[in-house]
Amino acid sequence: MKKGLFITFEGADGCGKTTQINLLAEYLKSKNIETILTREPGAKGLGVKIREILLNYDGVVSPNCESFLFLADRAQHVDCIIKPALQAGKVVLCDRHTDSTVAYQGYGRQLDIERINMLNNIATGGLKPDLTIVFDIDIETSMKRIGNDKDRMESSGIEFFKRVRQGFLEIAKKEPDRVKIINSDNSIENIHNQVKSLFKSINY
Ligand code: TYD
Repeated sequence: MKKGLFITFEGADGCGKTTQINLLAEYLKSKNIETILTREPGAKGLGVKIREILLNYDGVVSPNCESFLFLADRAQHVDCIIKPALQAGKVVLCDRHTDSTVAYQGYGRQLDIERINMLNNIATGGLKPDLTIVFDIDIETSMKRIGNDKDRMESSGIEFFKRVRQGFLEIAKKEPDRVKIINSDNSIENIHNQVKSLFKSINY
């Protein structure tokens, strides 16, 4: 059976990745490439309930607890949605995945990065994206895009988001073959063209 292709879209809140994942999905569908579009946290079912807690719970959530909730959502998502789609030979486009936990809980909440890597590995059963695109934007611009209606994660403050951005840049530095950075301070069309070039470069 032909193996599918797993592409993840990453970046700090307000970086424009959701617009871009939708555009790539439309492009692939126009080429008759079987594609699923999914996200973390909360693709469907149980994940939607975990997402609700993660984004809207209004009491204290310890960084460790937060990590395990993202990881629990990921385990369910990988087992029930991502792996079956890949086994069926589909292209899986995923809005956030393991690198978000490294950037947000590792760099942002300042938990141990090696431990997060190990836990990610358990949650995914060792599955790795074929390609990860990080949409990089300066924090002032992303904060303006988010506006005042912030969820629990988005309310974590500017210093937190500076560390998250740094985290994504460090991840890209450590794994340059898998992780590519696109400067998000550009037109939607220009960024879409760069995303398409990256897709073509992995030779699906
Ligand atoms: P979402 O509304 O999906 O944000 P976005 O549209 O920017 O992707 O909310 C997901 C939030 O959860 C976002 O603030 C990033 C955060 N997050 C983590 O902190 N760790 C993780 O492992 C994941 C997947 C997301």
